[in-house]
Amino acid sequence: MAMLTKDVENDDSFHEVVIASDPDPLLGYRSFTLGGFGFHRDEYFVEITWPVKDMRRSHTIAVDYFLRALMRDVAWGFFYGWVNFDTVFGTRNRYGTVDVYAGRYNEAMHESGISYVENFQTPTVMETFKAILGDWTNEGFDPFAAPEETTNSVFGPKNGNNFEAIERKRLATKRMPGLPGDSELRADDNGFPINRHFLDVSQDDPEVVCEPGFEGELHAISLFKYLSRSDVTWNPSVTGVCKYSLACPTTEEFILPIKHGNDRIEWFIQLSDHIVWDVEDKETGRPRARVTMRAGDVAAMPADIRHQGYSPKRSMLFVWENATPGLPDLYETGKLKPYPAEF
Ligand code: PHB
Ligand code: FE
Repeated sequence: MAMLTKDVENDDSFHEVVIASDPDPLLGYRSFTLGGFGFHRDEYFVEITWPVKDMRRSHTIAVDYFLRALMRDVAWGFFYGWVNFDTVFGTRNRYGTVDVYAGRYNEAMHESGISYVENFQTPTVMETFKAILGDWTNEGFDPFAAPEETTNSVFGPKNGNNFEAIERKRLATKRMPGLPGDSELRADDNGFPINRHFLDVSQDDPEVVCEPGFEGELHAISLFKYLSRSDVTWNPSVTGVCKYSLACPTTEEFILPIKHGNDRIEWFIQLSDHIVWDVEDKETGRPRARVTMRAGDVAAMPADIRHQGYSPKRSMLFVWENATPGLPDLYETGKLKPYPAEF
């Protein structure tokens, strides 16, 4: 075992470590340790292990699925609530610390006593996850891309890296793209061509006409044009901010690589094409609903569910998040109902 030691937040008093093995002599990948968890990859699979009683349990995830989920967890800073990589393994954001779990939100595993949860300081998990993502992503594979838009180089022995792709962050717009000092609009000449599935989307910009005296205070963009040039999938980026109200539109294709467990209500507006959602109980994984959303459909996703979407063709989804401080606690303690409307 070699220790890759890293300064976190440039703070000498807070020294976290990533624990990694030397590269495997045959396949070239490192294995990683995070508390009681072990992470190992081979040509096709990731094996996660954890301690239960005097034994170690293991769980297997296909490496492309694992890296797509890991990419989101890292880029989103553990997101709102739960990021289930699949029905067994995932993270829960406790905003300052992170629970890493295996089997905890899988009813059968948890009830049979083989689940495991360990809580870490957020930077410990972040640094370890970034190191895994960096070591296990081969040249040419982009975990943010739709399968048709990337390669199969994720499989097989270690073959280079793709740091450029995996260092992309969830966009954090301050107010609106295109405002001075805010995130850039997308165009051919800054590396955002129109996606192959959105060639029919109008590229006209809105005409802004102000009352005299209000010049420079009014701003408008074509959201359809903006989204038609998104180079990533399943990445709800902050694209419009009004106090704690966050507009997080995103483009989707293939499968949302995680089962997201909500810690607050979020609203979805399907802007184009369609997505099918599997909605499950957040705690147990029992099926709750299957929702087909077509262009124009609106849904509130409750605070007590987890969900995974399937988008057969690239589609545009408007995710509306509420970043009011303290919300998770209000739902957790039952002070707020998990759904926004009574029928
Ligand atoms: C969600 O879990 O609410 C979610 C996550 C990623 C997306 C869309 C929705 O791209
Ligand atoms: Fe969600």
